[in-house]
Amino acid sequence: MSPTPSPSDGSELIDPVVYERDGQPHEAWTQLRRSDPVHHFDPPGFGPFWAITRHADIREISRRPDTFGNAAGIVLLTAEQRAEGRVGELAQMRTIIEMDPPEHRDFRRVGSPWFTPNGMKRIDAAIDQAARELVDGLASSGGEGECDFATDVAARHPLRILSTILGVPRDQEDDILRLTNQLFAADDPELQRAADRQQAMRDLGAELYGIFAKIIDDRRAAPRDDLASLLANGRVNGELMGPMETFGYYLITFTAGHDTTKNSIVGGMRALVENPGELEKLRRDPDLVVPEVEEIVRWTTPVNYMKRTALCDVEVAGHAIREGEELLLFYASANRDEDVFEEPFRFRIDRDPNPHLGFGHGEHFCLGANLARRSQRALFRELATRLEHVELAGEPEHIRSNFVVGLKHLPLRYRIAVGA
Ligand code: HEM
Repeated sequence: MSPTPSPSDGSELIDPVVYERDGQPHEAWTQLRRSDPVHHFDPPGFGPFWAITRHADIREISRRPDTFGNAAGIVLLTAEQRAEGRVGELAQMRTIIEMDPPEHRDFRRVGSPWFTPNGMKRIDAAIDQAARELVDGLASSGGEGECDFATDVAARHPLRILSTILGVPRDQEDDILRLTNQLFAADDPELQRAADRQQAMRDLGAELYGIFAKIIDDRRAAPRDDLASLLANGRVNGELMGPMETFGYYLITFTAGHDTTKNSIVGGMRALVENPGELEKLRRDPDLVVPEVEEIVRWTTPVNYMKRTALCDVEVAGHAIREGEELLLFYASANRDEDVFEEPFRFRIDRDPNPHLGFGHGEHFCLGANLARRSQRALFRELATRLEHVELAGEPEHIRSNFVVGLKHLPLRYRIAVGA
């Protein structure tokens, strides 16, 4: 039997246009996991990289931050981006996802107390209220209607919650949403801001900095019991964090928290619509939202990959990797690994165990995982208890992005119980 051919030059793993057209390249990953799970690619237009596609190898690499670092960046750059570098405020900004230990641990400690299940109790009520208001909004036309679930619901939920914890005034929520879209979906023409990418990034940085600098000043002058105040007054080694580090913390919280949660929610909803048996299970037992949300994160894997850079010569699964070479940890592939998941290509809301890597692993494990879980559970519980009928009302459309991936449009037709 001839070996299964591996993908040609790796373009299909990272070309944003492929993601827009077809979604995540699961067929190519499945072949790689079987035949060549640590494979070196050099696709045109990008830098060379090692594709890491198996669950076990991604876990192992994630546990060794002293050997596989983040400081050189977490996304694979195009040749053009490499030449440009970052500009304006965004160039000076420092975020924990691009730090290595020991510095990373010092900075992570500033925000982490707020994200524990205990620390988050203070926003429990606000999360439930945000979910109820959104579902009330769907029911406002008498209980029957059509919506674009991506923009009308999935994007609004994390936006309201993140704005609340970061102190963004309600009348600036839409500005933040627009800017975040432009920052993250930089490859998607529908979400982009201008043809001149350099100038666009400079303006974007300045605009975001303008919004957050005001909040930081305000919370330094008059701290409250919120994350915004914790970050604005955060100290590292006894010193108040610098303006660019504080700005970086706000921005990473907002950007890392918004599109990821949105894409998880919208992909989860699509999976429920396409698997009516699973939706029925959830309706009958809304407590299943706990495993359901884990399954949604596994199924959608909104953070498609993270990049690591080898800090010395090292071996991974028998392959010699040289210092300075880049590795892409394809979480979305790990989350379909047949060696770990039974029937990985089936969406099962009560999957147990579910050791998915959707929130990463080890040193940089998602700081907002508890918030992401809690906010999605609130929304899906509200939907499960009130949704009477739901079906697609048009074709779902993927975002043109290879990094934070998912749907930008999900047209739905529904009937929903009008709230009490
Ligand atoms: C479904 C939603 C989310 C997904 C799928 C997700 C996924 C991830 C992944 C894969 C990483 C990298 C982990 C690694 O390298 O091992 C990460 C890091 C991070 N996430 Fe999330 N995330 C989500 C929601 C959030 C939310 C709501 C927040 C904050 C409000 C957040 C804040 C962060 C931060 C700050 C980091 C960097 C942590 C560090 O470097 O130590 N994320 N996330």
